[in-house]
Amino acid sequence: MNHPPKIIAVMSGKGGVGTSTITALLGAGLTKAGLLTGLLDADPVGPVIPVMFGVNQRMEQRGGKLHPSLSRDGLQIVSAGLLPEKLIDFSVEGPDKVIQAIISHGQWAPLDVLLIDMPAGFNDIHRFLFNELPVVGVVMVTSQRELDRLAIRNVMSILARRAVPILGVVENGGETECPSCSSLIRLSDREDLLAEDCEVVGCLPWTKKLAEFAREGRIEDYNHPLVFQMAVTVWENANKKD
Ligand SMILES: Nc1ncnc2c1ncn2[C@@H]1O[C@H](COP(=O)(O)OP(=O)(O)O)[C@@H](O)[C@H]1O
Ligand SMILES: [Mg+2]
Repeated sequence: MNHPPKIIAVMSGKGGVGTSTITALLGAGLTKAGLLTGLLDADPVGPVIPVMFGVNQRMEQRGGKLHPSLSRDGLQIVSAGLLPEKLIDFSVEGPDKVIQAIISHGQWAPLDVLLIDMPAGFNDIHRFLFNELPVVGVVMVTSQRELDRLAIRNVMSILARRAVPILGVVENGGETECPSCSSLIRLSDREDLLAEDCEVVGCLPWTKKLAEFAREGRIEDYNHPLVFQMAVTVWENANKKD
């Protein structure tokens, strides 16, 4: 077992590219690989992680501490979407203050790895988390829609200035399934992605099944072999750092 945990942030340039989905799949994959895994949902405005895992049980507040909710497979989840009522007044506190409160109250059980599902871009939430937590590296998520990938490059240059290593890039939805024969159709030029000068740790197709499983709270049932492979590669890369 690994203590303290390896802390891995999952980020993107723009919203809607699948950052939360990829973080959830990495969490599910690492749990299946036998690692004690935590997932911090750092998006207080759109906390979708509990929905994807079908978790309704709010975090328990004991002795002034917040104890993570558990997914079906035992992943520890901390999310603004699972706060005990009245703990934090969202109308008064800004989003970064909500995350600060969650971090200072959060009481994780032992972990090997902690994944952070970051909001898109780079704002006060990111600044706070990178200042407070010893993040070992970042997984960047991108999609075929970001043709010039301007936003991801901007975020990556901020990370480079802060000397935060990139553990790899995940392309989400560069391929999709043919509705009649289920074969994969390429939607973007993969050379574009490799030009980021980073290891590509996963290329996940856009599938109806994944969208359904995420919506229905069954993301842990998405057993695509690429998911397990991606999770193991991220874990290996995290272990090469410091
Ligand atoms: N590979 C995929 N296949 C199918 N649906 C996906 C895929 N990736 C993301 N989605 C869906 O796209 C939507 C946005 O994904 P999300 O992970 O919330 O994006 P982000 O966190 O980047 O804003 C969600 O409804 C999610 O289920
Ligand atoms: Mg998200």
